[in-house]
Amino acid sequence: MRSQYNLKLPHSVYSGKNSLENIKSILLENKVDKLAIFTDKGIERAGLLNYPMEFVKQTGVDVVVLDDLPAEPTYKQVQKLVDRFKESKADFIMAVGGGSVMDTAKLASILLTDRYGVYELLSRPQLAKKCMKTLMIPTTAGTGSEATPNAIVAVPEKELKIGIVNDDMISDYVILDAIMIKKLSRKIAASTGIDALAHAIECFTSNKANPFSDIFALEALDMILNNIVQACDNPEAMDAKNKMQIASFYAGIAITASGTTAVHALSYPLGGKYHIAHGVSNAILLVPVMKFNEQVCVGKLAEAYDRCVHIEKNCTTVEEKSKFMIDQFEKIVKHLDIPTSLSVFGVPESDLDILVDSGMQVTRLLDNNMRKVTSEDARKLYKQIL
Ligand SMILES: NC(=O)c1ccc[n+]([C@@H]2O[C@H](COP(=O)([O-])OP(=O)(O)OC[C@H]3O[C@@H](n4cnc5c(N)ncnc54)[C@H](O)[C@@H]3O)[C@@H](O)[C@H]2O)c1
Ligand SMILES: [Zn+2]
Repeated sequence: MRSQYNLKLPHSVYSGKNSLENIKSILLENKVDKLAIFTDKGIERAGLLNYPMEFVKQTGVDVVVLDDLPAEPTYKQVQKLVDRFKESKADFIMAVGGGSVMDTAKLASILLTDRYGVYELLSRPQLAKKCMKTLMIPTTAGTGSEATPNAIVAVPEKELKIGIVNDDMISDYVILDAIMIKKLSRKIAASTGIDALAHAIECFTSNKANPFSDIFALEALDMILNNIVQACDNPEAMDAKNKMQIASFYAGIAITASGTTAVHALSYPLGGKYHIAHGVSNAILLVPVMKFNEQVCVGKLAEAYDRCVHIEKNCTTVEEKSKFMIDQFEKIVKHLDIPTSLSVFGVPESDLDILVDSGMQVTRLLDNNMRKVTSEDARKLYKQIL
C-alpha cells in the first residue's frame, strides 16, 4: 500500500429523480453564453438529448452540438471534434453520453490551444491545463469517466488504447439522473455495468488500494452485485438503475484514488485491435484474471464477501468466501449473456504473440496488479479466452 494517498472529486454532483433540472442553475451560476454539447448520434437517435435540452432551452443560452463521434474513438477522431469545438467559441462544456463522449469532452476542456493536441498528450499528459468548466451527464453506468481524470483513446498505429491521465480533466459538475439510462439496451447496460464492477474489484485489489479508495470501491461493489441484474433485466427498475449510476460514479472515484489492474491492462489490446467494446473485453477477462490473482488476494476477496453479500451467508473460511465472490462474478456475466470468449470475435490463435506484446505494454495498470504478470502469464490468460 502507498504511504500517502489522496481523494480528488468533482466539485458538485447531483442525483435522484428529476436531477437534470439542476442544469439551469449550473448554467446560470456560471454565466454561460454559449454551451458546447458533446454527444453522439446514438444518443440523439435514442431521443436522449431532449431531456437535458428542455432545461438548457429555459436558460436561453446559445448552443452548439458536437455529435460527430464514433464509439471508442481514435485520438485523431477526438482531435477533429476538439478542433470544431475550438472554432465554436463556446464557454462551457456539457457532455451527454457514455465514456466515449465524456472522455472526448474532458480532453476538449484542456485543449483550447493550438500549441498541442491529443497526440502530444499521449506521451506528455501533463502538458495541458484546464481551460473550461465541464458538466458530465452519463448515459451509461458505466465507465465512471464522470469522476476520473482519465480519457481513453484508440491509437490504431499501436493497435492499442491509451489512457491519458490529467487531474485537470476531473469534471466540475455531474448529474446522475436515471432517466438517461432508462432506454439503454440490455446488452449495453450489461457490458457497461460489468465495466463498473471490474473497476470496483480491481481498485479494491490493486497495489494502490488505500483507505480512501476502499470505501468507494466496496460500496460500489455492494451496489453493483445487488442491483446489476435487476437494472439490466427490468426496464422499469429505476431505483436499481439509479443505484448502478451511483455505483459507477463511486467506482470512478476509486479509480482516481487507486487504479485498475490486469483485467483492464490486458483488455486494452482487445479494444485497440479488434474493436471489442470496453465493457465486453473486461467481462471476458474478469474471471480468468481474478482466478489468477486469487492466491495473493484471497483475504481481500473474503473482505469483499463480508461487506457485499447480505443473504445466504454460508461461507466461513477466507478460501470459501473468495471462491464465492469469483463464482458470483462468473454467474452474473453468464446471466447477462455477455460473451466469455474471444471466439465470437474471430480472434485467431496466431494473434497470440501480438496480444501478449500489446498487453504487456500497459505497464501503467499491470504495475497495480498484486500478483506480478509475466509475458508467460499473459499468454496463458489470453489462451484461456481464445
Ligand atoms: N475515462 C475513464 O475513466 C474511462 C473508464 C472506463 C472506460 N472508458 C472508455 O469509455 C469508452 C466506453 O464508454 P461506454 O462503455 O460508456 O460506451 P460508449 O460511450 O462507447 O457508448 C457505446 C454505444 O452506446 C450508445 N449509448 C450510450 N448510452 C446510451 C443510452 N442511454 N441509450 C442508447 N444508446 C446509448 C452510444 O451511442 C454508443 O453507440 C471506451 O473508450 C473506454 O475505454 C473511460
Ligand atoms: Zn473500464
